[in-house]
Amino acid sequence: MPMTIDSSEVLKRIEDAPLLSSSASRLLQITADPEHSLGEVADIVKTDAALTARVLRVVNSAAFGLISTISSIDRAISYLGERLVVGIAIDICASQLFDKPLTGYEAQRGDLWRHDLRVAIASREIARLAPQDMAVDLAFTGGILHDIGKSILSEFLTGTAQSVLETIEKGEAQDYLEAERAMLGIDHAMVGYELARKWQLPEPLQQVIRFHHKPSEADEEHRSLVYAVHLGDIIAMMGGGGTGSDTLQYHMDSAYTDYLDISVEQLTMTLLHVEEEFSKMEASLLDGKDGGT
Ligand SMILES: [Fe+2]
Ligand SMILES: [Fe+2]
Repeated sequence: MPMTIDSSEVLKRIEDAPLLSSSASRLLQITADPEHSLGEVADIVKTDAALTARVLRVVNSAAFGLISTISSIDRAISYLGERLVVGIAIDICASQLFDKPLTGYEAQRGDLWRHDLRVAIASREIARLAPQDMAVDLAFTGGILHDIGKSILSEFLTGTAQSVLETIEKGEAQDYLEAERAMLGIDHAMVGYELARKWQLPEPLQQVIRFHHKPSEADEEHRSLVYAVHLGDIIAMMGGGGTGSDTLQYHMDSAYTDYLDISVEQLTMTLLHVEEEFSKMEASLLDGKDGGT
């Protein structure tokens, strides 16, 4: 497989990636703090006209199914939940990254976004079942962002899917991540981490993005969160919601049982529940987008 790309070209592309809006990055900072209040989230949304409009469109979308129209941001946020509001804020400024067809992974436009949403729902569900207190909304946001590196790496991988899969089958690479590194000198988790640093994301989210395929390497402090997203990612892929050629081409780290007290039955239930929740959320988010002018 003749590739002449080196990682510095990939890193250069990160510099050109869009920045997060100040409201999106403030929302990420605030919601990473366990002490925050819903009022603080509402205050940020209210200062951003585009975000306010989109939040109201989503909550009033037909798919959300409310009988009367909501016009107050405070009520909208309590209906939607702050995690979804953060997701909307990220999507507004980085939709060009999320909506891109991942040609390098032979995935269609929207596949990354749908995969991220499934992972977010599954990770949050798992975080909720965790024995120790975990910021469940952080697990959701981590799920939304975990594969963001793929949106940049994808174009450098165009046309490689077949040979990558052969490499893994022959045992020359352990998983898709290692195959990416072998070809480009960098993998999607590292690219995502560089972007996370550029965006100055809170530390736990940087760790999720960097270590979602290698959770045992995350800092001890954030490891249970990283394991939650690691499992959420696998559950989404098992449910048929991957991003194309790399689906299920990663290893599951079974040491999750050291960090999360979750039975196989609970994981199976999560798999079933994710699909249901996903259809509901997907419909309201798409309605909210279509209603835009
Ligand atoms: Fe990944
Ligand atoms: Fe993923």
